Amino acid sequence: PDPDTVPQLLLRWYDRHARSLPWRAPPGSAPADPYAVWLSEIMLQQTTVTAVIPYFRTFLQRWPDVAALAAADRDEVLAAWAGLGYYSRARNLHLCAQQVAGLHGGRFPVDEAGLLALPGIGPYTAAAIAAIAFDRPAVVVDGNVERVVARLFAESDLLPAVKPRLRQRAAELTPQRRPGDFAQAMMDLGATVCTPRSPDCLLCPLSGQCGARAAGIAAELPRRAAK
Ligand code: ADE
Repeated sequence: PDPDTVPQLLLRWYDRHARSLPWRAPPGSAPADPYAVWLSEIMLQQTTVTAVIPYFRTFLQRWPDVAALAAADRDEVLAAWAGLGYYSRARNLHLCAQQVAGLHGGRFPVDEAGLLALPGIGPYTAAAIAAIAFDRPAVVVDGNVERVVARLFAESDLLPAVKPRLRQRAAELTPQRRPGDFAQAMMDLGATVCTPRSPDCLLCPLSGQCGARAAGIAAELPRRAAK
């Protein structure tokens, strides 16, 4: 795959096929509100998009900005979270809102290191927020993106030892122009086209760039590491 062609093709596809999600700005427009991006990324850490949507709407309506969430009663936040699971996320959500409101003047840090220092934000979430909310060329690699990159480079096994190489390859593909849309486009491609069992290569904008497709083995890749 060519590192200039891949983002070009993918962004053109995203312009037409981006999923419309309540926390997302339309393709090619200014990034969404960092508070909304952060809230969605915390909810999406261990929960599916479909399950998150109604909770995201409720939270945003009830606590429309980080100051409102910081000022909320902790038990009310936990009660509103009920059903999403992994309640440490809700406790950290509230703590994080209080830190951003109290220590950062209500504005989220724009870079990964600053984001990473906040409660509930790990390396993946820091990269996702930096890319999506601040259009920084952060390398955003979740399970879906790992699979897309593994297929592009015909990397056959997701052994732990291979992951740093996949990350390096994802970094090489990340463009300086529209990195936030690129990150979201990779997520959408993995969720809707380059799916685990039966990738829809006929609909894929990257099929001509894909090593696994060229070898006729996209559906077989990547094999999971033997446990
Ligand atoms: N999963 C994690 N972050 C996501 C996002 N911003 N959009 C869709 N799925 C996601």
